[in-house]
Amino acid sequence: MEKETLAAICALPNDWHGAGTVSDVVLVAIARRCAEGLTHSVETGTGRTTLLLSHLSRDHTVFTKQDRGNGDSLDRVRASWLLAPDVVRFVEGPTQITVPRHAFAERFEFAMLDGPHAFPFPYVEYCYIYPHIAPEGLLVVDDVQIPTIRVMVDILRQDPMWRLLEVVGQTAFLQRTDAPTVDPLEDGWSLQGYNRRKARLRDLLPPVVKRAWHRLR
Ligand SMILES: C[S@@+](CC[C@H](N)C(=O)[O-])C[C@H]1O[C@@H](n2cnc3c(N)ncnc32)[C@H](O)[C@@H]1O
Repeated sequence: MEKETLAAICALPNDWHGAGTVSDVVLVAIARRCAEGLTHSVETGTGRTTLLLSHLSRDHTVFTKQDRGNGDSLDRVRASWLLAPDVVRFVEGPTQITVPRHAFAERFEFAMLDGPHAFPFPYVEYCYIYPHIAPEGLLVVDDVQIPTIRVMVDILRQDPMWRLLEVVGQTAFLQRTDAPTVDPLEDGWSLQGYNRRKARLRDLLPPVVKRAWHRLR
C-alpha cells in the first residue's frame, strides 16, 4: 500500500470515532506484517483498522454493529475517503449473533478481534473464526490489558496452533502454526498447552498439599 495512505490513516485523531481505536504503532505493525497483501481477511469491530485493511486485502469481511449515536464508528468508516469500499463487506449486527450464524467459505490470512470486549464475547468470536485461519495466518487480539482478554491470549500462546509473535502496545499478534486445528466439534482439552502445564504443576504437589488445597477450595 502507499505510504501516504498509511500516514493519512494514522493522522486521523484517536477520537475520529468514539468507540476507541488501536494506536498508530499497531496500524504500522499490521501494515508491516501484511505488506505483501492479503487475499482474505476478517475483523470484528470497525474503525481505523478497517480503513487500513481495505488497502491491504483483496477481500475484507467486517462484523460490526450499527453504533450511531454511541461511537459512530460504522458511519465514520463508511463515509471515509480513506476506505476502499469495493473490497469490504460489512456484516452488521452484534457479533454474538452474526459470527456464529455466518457461513465462512474463506481461508483467512488475517483475523482481528476488536469488537465487544466483555467475557465471553471475544472467545465466542474466536470459536467460530479460528477454524478458518490459514497456516501462517495472523490472529490479532486487541486490548490485552483487559484481564479476561489477557487470559485468552495466555491460553492461545500455549496452544500448539499458535505462536505469539509480539505484543504491540495493548495488541497481541499471534501466528497460526501448522499444528492440527483443534476439532471444533470435539473435546481436546488435554492436548492444550495451557491445561497440560496446569495439570503438570498439580501432579508435582505432594498428596498432603493436594488434599489441603482441595479442602480449601
Ligand atoms: C474498539 S472499537 C474498534 C476499533 C477499531 N479496530 C479501530 O482500530 O478503530 C470496537 C468496535 O466494536 C463494535 N462493537 C461493540 N460491540 C459490538 C457487538 N456486540 N457486536 C458487533 N460490534 C460491536 C463497536 O461498534 C466498534 O466498531
